[in-house]
Amino acid sequence: MGVEGEKRRAAEAAGELVEDGMLVGLGTGTTVAFLLVAIARRAPTAVFVASSPRTEQAARTLGLRVHPFDAIERLDLAIDGADQIAPGGWLIKGGGGALTREKVVAAAADRFVVIADATKLVDALHAPVPLELSPFGLAATIRRLGACDVRNAPASPDGGVIADYRGPVTAPGELARLLSATPGVIAHGLFEPELVSELLVGVGATVRHTIIGAAP
Ligand code: 5RP
Repeated sequence: MGVEGEKRRAAEAAGELVEDGMLVGLGTGTTVAFLLVAIARRAPTAVFVASSPRTEQAARTLGLRVHPFDAIERLDLAIDGADQIAPGGWLIKGGGGALTREKVVAAAADRFVVIADATKLVDALHAPVPLELSPFGLAATIRRLGACDVRNAPASPDGGVIADYRGPVTAPGELARLLSATPGVIAHGLFEPELVSELLVGVGATVRHTIIGAAP
């Protein structure tokens, strides 16, 4: 119950941020599942976009109004989980394979709030770093990346292959640049602090609120 309680408390704190009339991006994962319930309980008249079919279906089942994310230019708020959170605000995401859409949603939001339990706090990021790869030229891309395994997981909703980079993550900025510059890498799970506005982390019975970047 410890970790689950931490996730639920962080998610409930984030649910309070959703207000009537907002455009809100929803992440993916078990912490976000608590968020959906918390939002649905308050029933705000907000419009939502989902970062995965899983989240979309769960949100609709709970009665949330989910719109496609093709013609919406920006979001007021996005809320998502994380696999690892480093002290300066660097994240690793994509444990659920939804990293590409999660990054698109986070980048479109004026305010990106990360929710997590305390097990996600790390002193320094470490492998694996989730990747979405183009199926075209897959073997060549993997060879170029070196330490990289294709995950035994379904393709992304956009047809990408989900994989994990297993090399060192000592300098996240440099690795992020290297991965972004590798042909065949559609997206990587390193999220830079510039994307992140705030962290809400369940720590025991409390929720620790940390500001990373200022919201406009
Ligand atoms: C999915 C993600 C999730 O946010 C991350 O894996 C955390 O998941 P959970 O809330 O289940 O611990 O990035 O791609």
